[in-house]
Amino acid sequence: MRQYEKPDHWALRAQKEGYPARSVYKLQELDEKFFLLPASGQPFRVLDLGAAPGSWSLYVLRKAGSRRGFFLAAVDLAPLSRQYDQGLFEGERFSFIQGDFTLPGVRAAIEDQGPYNLILCDAAPATTGNRSVDTLRSLVLAEEALNYAETGLAKGGRLAVKVFQGGDTAGLLQKIRRLFGTGKSFKPQACRSGSFETYYIGLDKR
Ligand SMILES: C[S@@+](CC[C@H](N)C(=O)[O-])C[C@H]1O[C@@H](n2cnc3c(N)ncnc32)[C@H](O)[C@@H]1O
Repeated sequence: MRQYEKPDHWALRAQKEGYPARSVYKLQELDEKFFLLPASGQPFRVLDLGAAPGSWSLYVLRKAGSRRGFFLAAVDLAPLSRQYDQGLFEGERFSFIQGDFTLPGVRAAIEDQGPYNLILCDAAPATTGNRSVDTLRSLVLAEEALNYAETGLAKGGRLAVKVFQGGDTAGLLQKIRRLFGTGKSFKPQACRSGSFETYYIGLDKR
C-alpha cells in the first residue's frame, strides 16, 4: 500500500462517524468558518457538484434534518455509495444526477431543479501525475461551477469550490469577487498534507 492510501486520522474518523470519505471534514471546516448552511430559516436548495462517494451530500442532508423547504441535488460521473445513507439518498428532498456536469444535457437537468442557495463543488479530475495538466483540468471544473453560480444561484447565495493550486487561481478569485460581495480562499486542515488543493468561497451573490 502506498503512503497516500493509508487511512489517516480523518479517514478512520469518517468510517466511525458513517461517512464514505474523509473529505467530509473539509466541508465541516468550511461550513463552520463561513456559515455555508444556515441551521434554519427560509427554504434552502443546495447543489453538490462532484458528489461521489457522497460524504458532502450526507453532511448536508444530516444537517438539514427535517427542515422545511430543503432540497439537495447531487451530481457525479460515478454513483453514490449507499453504505451509510440510511435512506437519506431517497425521497423528494434529494435528487442524484449521474453524468458530467460540463455537458449541456446534464446542465439542463441541474438548472431545472434550481435556483440554488448554495453551490458546492468538490469535483476533481482523474489525476495524471502531470501537475500542469491536472491543475488546468481542475480549473476547468471550478470555472464550470462558477458558471452555475452565475446562472443558477439565487441572490445572496453562496459558493464553495475546490481547485488545485498552480493554474490561474488569481483569475478565478477575481471572477468570484465580481459575482459575490465577498470572495476568498481557504485551505482546511483536513486536506492531506502536501495536497495542492484549496477551496474558493463566494458569499452573498450580487
Ligand atoms: C474528491 S471526489 C468528491 C468527494 C465528495 N465531495 C465526497 O465528500 O464524497 C471528486 C469527484 O468529482 C467527480 N467529477 C470529476 N469531474 C466531474 C464531472 N465533469 N462531472 C461530474 N463529476 C465529476 C469525480 O467523479 C469524483 O467522484
